[in-house]
Amino acid sequence: MGRLDDKVAMVTGGSGGIGSATLKRFVAEGAKVVCADIDEERGEKVAGELGDDAVFVRCDVSSLDDVTAAVDAAVQHFGSIDVLFNNAAWSSGGYVADLDPEAWDRSLRIMLTGPMYGMKAAIPYMLEQGGGSIVNTSSVYGLVASPGVAPYCSAKAGLINLTKTTAVEYGRRNIRVNAICPGVVETPMFEAVLGTGLTTREKVAEMHALGRTIQPEEIANLVLFLASNESSAITGQAVVIDGGLLSDCNLTGLPPVA
Ligand SMILES: NC(=O)c1ccc[n+]([C@@H]2O[C@H](COP(=O)([O-])OP(=O)(O)OC[C@H]3O[C@@H](n4cnc5c(N)ncnc54)[C@H](O)[C@@H]3O)[C@@H](O)[C@H]2O)c1
Repeated sequence: MGRLDDKVAMVTGGSGGIGSATLKRFVAEGAKVVCADIDEERGEKVAGELGDDAVFVRCDVSSLDDVTAAVDAAVQHFGSIDVLFNNAAWSSGGYVADLDPEAWDRSLRIMLTGPMYGMKAAIPYMLEQGGGSIVNTSSVYGLVASPGVAPYCSAKAGLINLTKTTAVEYGRRNIRVNAICPGVVETPMFEAVLGTGLTTREKVAEMHALGRTIQPEEIANLVLFLASNESSAITGQAVVIDGGLLSDCNLTGLPPVA
């Protein structure tokens, strides 16, 4: 018995680190999956490795037409859409006074409007089917801030309240909506941050109470729980999965127990 037997799930950003790990976990638990991403080459590879239980659909989440077509494809191919994991991301950056308005708009379209499009497209099917589970990838940056990442922080914070609003709208129709707020996860996105040379893996790892960064498979475990019936009483939440990053505000200077 798999925890997602007879369920169909769509994952945006499915070609990436967290998305592909989650797709693998979902299939191992009995789901049929749609890998939706703008990156065709990696997406086809991810879906191909999962066999007949997976299809890739090229989808730019900033386009309502693309997102609607991807959700429709899930239903046409596998018969329903039970789980939607809105997980794609792209962001511009810079200090607020220097932000490029077009890049700001694109960041919000991908990370905030995109999940809204996904829910707009999937909810009518979920209402017809009698329920569903939606998980939106926010971030610790939906809750706290760092210099230079205003578009990312703003979109991820907005996504938490979009999650809560949708949860209170559709809870009585058995549609649950939750957000996850990861700390630093070992994916191409983190590699890109390291590529700027402004920080190091060791420095970042030290900021987490666990003394290490997070693996994509550890995020996939949480998404699986929220997607499955095991979390049947959980909705409207922003679940932090950060290795203790946000708990550590060391003002005493005392080192943690080694
Ligand atoms: N890696 C981290 O440390 C971290 C921490 C907190 C939150 N997150 C969030 O986790 C999610 C997954 O990120 P990841 O770490 O796996 O990074 P990743 O770069 O491996 O994956 C992101 C994916 O999104 C896709 N994408 C970008 N623009 C798109 C678009 N317009 N339409 C469709 N797909 C698009 C990319 O092609 C890529 O496959 C993101 O929402 C990210 O903000 C990541």
